Amino acid sequence: MKIGVGNLLLSISYLIDIAQGRKEHAPKVTYISLQIAKQLQIEKNETKKIYYASFLHDIGITVSDNNFYASHVDIQLAKNHCLLGYEFVRKLPLDEEISEIIKYHHDFYNGSGAFGYDYRVLPLASQIINLADQIDISMNWSNPYYLQVDDLKEWVKKNKGILFNPFIVDAFLDIADKDKFWLDLYNPQLRQIILELLPDEEVYFDIKTMLKFSEAVALLIDNKSKFTHLHSQGLSEVVFEIAKIMGLDHETSNKLKIAGYLHDLGKMVVPNEILNKVGKLTKEEFYIIKSHPYYTKLILDQIPVFKGEISNWAGNHHERIDRSGYPEKLGKDELSLLDRVVGICDVYQALIEDRPYRKGLGQKEALSIIYDMVKNELFLEEEFELLRRAVV
Ligand SMILES: [Fe+2]
Ligand SMILES: [Fe+2]
Ligand SMILES: [Fe+2]
Repeated sequence: MKIGVGNLLLSISYLIDIAQGRKEHAPKVTYISLQIAKQLQIEKNETKKIYYASFLHDIGITVSDNNFYASHVDIQLAKNHCLLGYEFVRKLPLDEEISEIIKYHHDFYNGSGAFGYDYRVLPLASQIINLADQIDISMNWSNPYYLQVDDLKEWVKKNKGILFNPFIVDAFLDIADKDKFWLDLYNPQLRQIILELLPDEEVYFDIKTMLKFSEAVALLIDNKSKFTHLHSQGLSEVVFEIAKIMGLDHETSNKLKIAGYLHDLGKMVVPNEILNKVGKLTKEEFYIIKSHPYYTKLILDQIPVFKGEISNWAGNHHERIDRSGYPEKLGKDELSLLDRVVGICDVYQALIEDRPYRKGLGQKEALSIIYDMVKNELFLEEEFELLRRAVV
């Protein structure tokens, strides 16, 4: 199994943008950064790091409670999400420099940014992403570019050697003269355009590296709420145990484990304050939470080797055989055994964890509640038996 890293990060960046209510921020920053890198004739390997770092540069905002715009203009909030992003990306099986690039993407040429470092120590890649980021924030994308680009160029020029590196400013001013640059940025197919700009061939993760990557993402999702801080990790262990009991082959077992790690990936779009709310959820909050398996499947479907298996096992975990689940109201004949296995393990894992309104239950009590669900035709005996054997 081979997973293209560029495609994987691009897909995840989609969630970051939805979470922040900002359309295509990560792709636009990536596109602008790549064009600057090309203009500066930055070598391929370095360009690749810029590519990956741009996709993930704001992932720290997703796990913080802060809003997108404030995180880009307030120096404390900027520093906060730079650090959170750095700490997360450092855990991914990617080149360490990528996390460093992300750490300094809110620092300015003259040392007036988040960490107070100046051009003498800042990675060039961070300085490129910084300018690209500022450009996206400054543009009003609902208005045509030709009404605003002149002012934007003036502003960038005024900050040459102050906020921005003079070389990077010159490169930007050259490309900003081309209509194609702006037309690409306004193109609804921008994501496709970016994939084609990938320097060299795509880098691939094998299944072992993908497991590591998924585990880091699981930690990020679990940590959004103190009540779920072990949820996806715990679930992935139980499903892996079931895979052993079923005698599944090595590759399928690992795929199931990845589905366990990533089943709540869509929770990245749910604000932390909703996940941590102690009181009753409002109707709106409830619907926002309920959307998470939809986003899990949406993202995993974009990764060709995940489509069909991993994306269904992960994305169907709230479906029930009597069609009372969500988001697709799938029924018995549409849910595979492994879809149901992840679903039943998710219930088990949730029951043994503390929730705002109750303490975590013991194993016996949890199993007896789940057995009632079997009697009520939400699950089948088959997956219940597998769960029981795995946890007892
Ligand atoms: Fe940022
Ligand atoms: Fe940003
Ligand atoms: Fe879930």
